[in-house]
Amino acid sequence: MDVTVFSTKPYDRAFLDAAAGTRHRLHHLEARLSPATAVLAKGAGAVCAFVNDTVDAAVLAEFQRLGVGLVALRSAGFNNVDLAAAKGAGIAVARVPAYSPEAVAEHTVALILALNRNIHRAYARVREGNFALEGLMGFNLHGRTVGVVGTGRIGVGVIRILMGFGCRVLAFDPFPNPETAALGATYVPLAELLAAAEIVSLHCPLTPETHHLVDAGAIATMKRGVMLINTSRGGIVDTRAVVDGLKDGAIGHLGLDVYEEEADLFFEDLSDHVIRDDVFARLQTFPNVLITGHQGFFTAEALSAIAETTMANITAFEETGEALHPVTMAHRA
Ligand code: NAI
Repeated sequence: MDVTVFSTKPYDRAFLDAAAGTRHRLHHLEARLSPATAVLAKGAGAVCAFVNDTVDAAVLAEFQRLGVGLVALRSAGFNNVDLAAAKGAGIAVARVPAYSPEAVAEHTVALILALNRNIHRAYARVREGNFALEGLMGFNLHGRTVGVVGTGRIGVGVIRILMGFGCRVLAFDPFPNPETAALGATYVPLAELLAAAEIVSLHCPLTPETHHLVDAGAIATMKRGVMLINTSRGGIVDTRAVVDGLKDGAIGHLGLDVYEEEADLFFEDLSDHVIRDDVFARLQTFPNVLITGHQGFFTAEALSAIAETTMANITAFEETGEALHPVTMAHRA
């Protein structure tokens, strides 16, 4: 099948081409998918899209006109897709539900450890010949209470690692997962989790219900000096409220791999440009904030699994009319 692949970087191409073999003809584009670029899918039976591509009603209407039958996401999250519009246009949507939850779980813990022990600051200091320890004091993870919001594949992966550190883990999820209790974590209501946790880590999808789940009201109920970690989706956190929380000390550490307005920033080298996003620029001024540019998924194992599953979705769609891992309206429920 001919597949137009949006938002590709050289590393994507290498893994996708290897997985496609001679079975599919991939047309790689650097361009992001948007209503303006959707027409580039002309001639393709399927489109392959990534996290910051826009798959809205206008894009899907254009795909319908062009005869594109499948949008194969190279991601687990699908908040960037208008599923109702896809259904209306008769276009199937597929995703990669679990390419490597450990990749994101391990990155989450990397952020926690780096922030807690000020590794980001120590690295810069030592390179400058500054071996002073003032300002670098951390705290033991052993015995600390961590709140995990969302106990799907990644959340459970984080819990598994944290248990190894000797943390006490509180969890919240509207759909409890038996593995969570088996690992020794305890489900509690969200309000209880936010009030008790010294570290709060977000692992739920971005939905209308989770949009700005961490806002000024939620921050006011958290332990003073809490460490907040978000490797899920930027929109789950109200960034302006978090900036206020950092300024007054309500939030003691912030680790982000995702950001509400990341589509204009992440995955690009903007080092020669002025950052025009004042909220993002303010975040970067805090010594207790560590931001990575949506790299939680970025391991060799994960890229390989993403490519294999994406091609399996496309092959199944070509052979049966249904992808291996379809996303339907039911996933929103
Ligand atoms: P998953 O679907 O296995 O688990 C999500 C869990 O969140 C489910 O158990 C669900 O019941 C729960 N949930 C739904 N609504 C909730 C709510 N209101 N409050 C608390 N929990 C809620 O998904 P997985 O694979 O664990 O991924 C989690 C999220 O991580 C994805 O949705 C995606 O946005 C993000 N992600 C980030 C990556 C990165 O590179 N930083 C890579 C992959 C995923």
